[in-house]
Amino acid sequence: MNCTRKITDDLIWVGGNDKKLSMFEGYYPVPSGVSYNSYILKDEKTVLFDTVDKSEFGVFSANVKNVLDGRKLDYLVVHHMEPDHSATIEWVVNMYPEVKIVCSQKTTAMLNQFFGGRITAETVEVKEGDTLETGKHTLHFVMAPMVHWPEVMMTYDSCDKILFSADAFGSFGTLDGAVTDEEKETDMDEARRYYTNIVGKYGPQVKAVLGKAASLEINMICPLHGLVLKNGIEMMTEKYLKWSAYEPEEKGVLIAYSSVYGNTENAAYFLACKLFEKGLKVRMFDVSVTHSSYVIAEAFRVKNIVLATTTYNNGIFVTMEDLINELISHNIQNKNIAVIENGSWAPVCGKLVKAKFEKSRNIEFIGDTVTIKSAAGGEAADKLAELAELIAEKAQ
Ligand code: FEO
Repeated sequence: MNCTRKITDDLIWVGGNDKKLSMFEGYYPVPSGVSYNSYILKDEKTVLFDTVDKSEFGVFSANVKNVLDGRKLDYLVVHHMEPDHSATIEWVVNMYPEVKIVCSQKTTAMLNQFFGGRITAETVEVKEGDTLETGKHTLHFVMAPMVHWPEVMMTYDSCDKILFSADAFGSFGTLDGAVTDEEKETDMDEARRYYTNIVGKYGPQVKAVLGKAASLEINMICPLHGLVLKNGIEMMTEKYLKWSAYEPEEKGVLIAYSSVYGNTENAAYFLACKLFEKGLKVRMFDVSVTHSSYVIAEAFRVKNIVLATTTYNNGIFVTMEDLINELISHNIQNKNIAVIENGSWAPVCGKLVKAKFEKSRNIEFIGDTVTIKSAAGGEAADKLAELAELIAEKAQ
């Protein structure tokens, strides 16, 4: 069955869509599934750009055979060795034994690590600025280390002005028969959740690649996940510039809370009411209920973050501590953070929360920690109202 999509006269999408996957990388929920994009360029030489996850081997192998239609495969360009894109390389080299693998130097070592010497195809190691002529097309190789692994590179086709961007500019979500963002709208929430969680830690490296891309005329971006970008190149580039610099998209407020019996949650709601009364936009997440990837994405989107949590085992409640660890490991910075702590006899989590961000860059705490003893009322309610004032001053 042919499940391919023509993108240009010479370029065909031959990837796969996985709606059965529940956890991408074994951790991130993907309720809309995920696509693994692979592309074939049919020029005087034939080029396959990346392969797919093993789950999509069946459709991918049929697609490749269908599109090549008896032609030999001259080159396999490997942009990234993470197995969601490389797991089916072994099939490619067995099926097309004359194929040459075009990749960065670090990829060669990883081919051996993942495949234990079974990849015997000739490799053509390329470095920044190297080119490959395929006939009408010239492919220019752009190194993109740590976007999102060290061996990553991108390819620019100067004939059709197409950037093959590896993991960058991707998104969660299957394509469902579409291939470009002219046919189907990009789900920005999922694109943001993908970027911030998968690549968000590597802002400086992403910025470096954006700097290289700025000198290129780009008509189309072909990522390894999600829709091919045509309409959305400018908009997505602007988002990437913000995300990679850890700049918020807007000043709004994220309230993330954990609550054992609902009293910390009530305080969070009380604060949210006060903030809405002041005309602010607030999004709330119970971090014990919502997967951290959604909260991380929102933390990148806005400037102001409220963390409200209970003291637990003389520490921070477990799901809030997990979230904070993730925020820090994703290099969250340039944020205003307000802290609300609860504890019936020894509330200590507020100072522990603040201590977690000691090494984070450009974190400003809003006001003093608001302390709740069991349930917010009286003085604590007054403090929450004051905190709303302070947050409003920051967020207007
Ligand atoms: Fe989609 Fe880093 O692999």
